[in-house]
Amino acid sequence: MKQIISVDITTRKVDPIRCKTDLLVLGCFSDSKKPDEVGKAVDEKLGGAIRRLLKLGDFKGAAKTQAVLYGEGKIAATRVMLIGLGERKKITLDTIRKAAASATNKAVGLKLKSVALALHGAVGDAYDTSTVARVMAEGAYFGSYRYDEFVTASENGRLGALKIEIVDADAKRIKALDRGLGQGAVIGRAQSYARTIANRPANVINPPTLAKEAQAMTRGLKGLSCTVFDEKQLKAQKMGGILAVGAGSRSAPRLIVLKYTPAKTPAKKLPKVALVGKAVTFDSGGISIKPSANMDQMKFDKSGGIAVLATMKAVAELALPISVWGLIPSAENLPSASSYRPGDIVTTYSGKTVEVLNTDAEGRMILSDALAYAVKQKRDTVIDVATLTGACMVALGSYNAGLMSNDDALTEQIKKAAEASGESVWHLPSGDEYADEMKSKVADLKNIGSRWGGACTAAAFLRQFVGEAAWAHLDIAGMDNFQKETEYAAPGSTGFGVRLLTTYLMNLAGVK
Ligand code: BES
Ligand code: ZN
Ligand code: ZN
Repeated sequence: MKQIISVDITTRKVDPIRCKTDLLVLGCFSDSKKPDEVGKAVDEKLGGAIRRLLKLGDFKGAAKTQAVLYGEGKIAATRVMLIGLGERKKITLDTIRKAAASATNKAVGLKLKSVALALHGAVGDAYDTSTVARVMAEGAYFGSYRYDEFVTASENGRLGALKIEIVDADAKRIKALDRGLGQGAVIGRAQSYARTIANRPANVINPPTLAKEAQAMTRGLKGLSCTVFDEKQLKAQKMGGILAVGAGSRSAPRLIVLKYTPAKTPAKKLPKVALVGKAVTFDSGGISIKPSANMDQMKFDKSGGIAVLATMKAVAELALPISVWGLIPSAENLPSASSYRPGDIVTTYSGKTVEVLNTDAEGRMILSDALAYAVKQKRDTVIDVATLTGACMVALGSYNAGLMSNDDALTEQIKKAAEASGESVWHLPSGDEYADEMKSKVADLKNIGSRWGGACTAAAFLRQFVGEAAWAHLDIAGMDNFQKETEYAAPGSTGFGVRLLTTYLMNLAGVK
């Protein structure tokens, strides 16, 4: 991979006022009238500049605000950035993550070479030091990420390297920071990896090249294996859903199967987990073709599968003591002489038949095979991730993924992971009344419901394929990519799901 910007994060034991850096980053709450310990020392060296700024009210420490001061040779840092953290009692881990993201995003924008984060100074005892380091690292990767793999114009200038440090004068604290940074760097890198693969266009990533990428990713990672079902094997396995959707493309479909087996068997009996991700490398709608406006965005229809791929990378690198599989059904949905058609009746891997009424409802077709495969292979807990419905976007916008499930305990675990990871979910129904809409007169199921509640009927369709397994479905349409840049991130893929799923698995495996 041509690396666009190479980010390196380390800790450094240094007194922040003696820390040579392009940008020293400090946190500031809106309800504390004075700077934290580090801020105080910086303020003294700067002759009270921070206090004057706070007193003037130009910067009040409100969330999403920041102020920059200059070191002017009085401290070792060239610039100091104060980041607003909002009210102290409202702090969450995501406050810190987002602060690190907005600082590093700004640093890349200014083409700086180094950043020193000292946000943990303001946070104090609200969270343990290593957790704060983990989320700072996650945020730092998130904010500094850029995608310009195919930009050759030199006036834009490739960004080169950004050196990010978490700085503290106390050796004991450095130890705790190091532990969290180790985890955060794994998660942050996995998310950046997801963003790069998802940002790649459909003339680069198709089912076979995605499968090759998965195999390359797996190589050298302990406990992780990757097998790929090609078209011949999909036919032999009777995976009719994946084959139907892939039939219209010259790039044949695949099912990517990643298996992670921990070196040590877990201390207590843990569920065998399967993550299932939709990887439609381009969704034109097929014969039920989409309107052309914004159709380019449908290169992101592989995002669920890629979130699974990158989570498997993180799971292996963190050496989590839990058995996890990643199943990634991949197809390209195009109209052609060989495409599947409205009216076709498809026999899926489960044996259930589906009447295709809209070829654009293709995600559920490929997921039905992968979900049934997970259940047949006796995975106890099955979580799927998919850019499944425009309806979910209409319902929740781009602030929450839809969460549907047949299991209350699993729902709670995912909600908890969502809160900690800052990748939010909102619980939506998927029960019998929705399932009733998916019954067909000429087959077991049809692939679309009525006009209303499209996210819920899609989930109810998937639910028919999970048998007795504890199952959850994450509809990430609207979360997978942002067309415009935000304060925290460059436009394009968000890598949504990587932090959520990894956090869920860390919690399940009891890893702190
Ligand atoms: N990939 C789309 C869903 C989607 C739409 C994701 C917009 C992100 C942004 C999916 O395959 C699809 O086309 N779904 C249809 C289902 C309908 C035909 C029942 C939809 O949502 O319109
Ligand atoms: Zn579609
Ligand atoms: Zn789709």
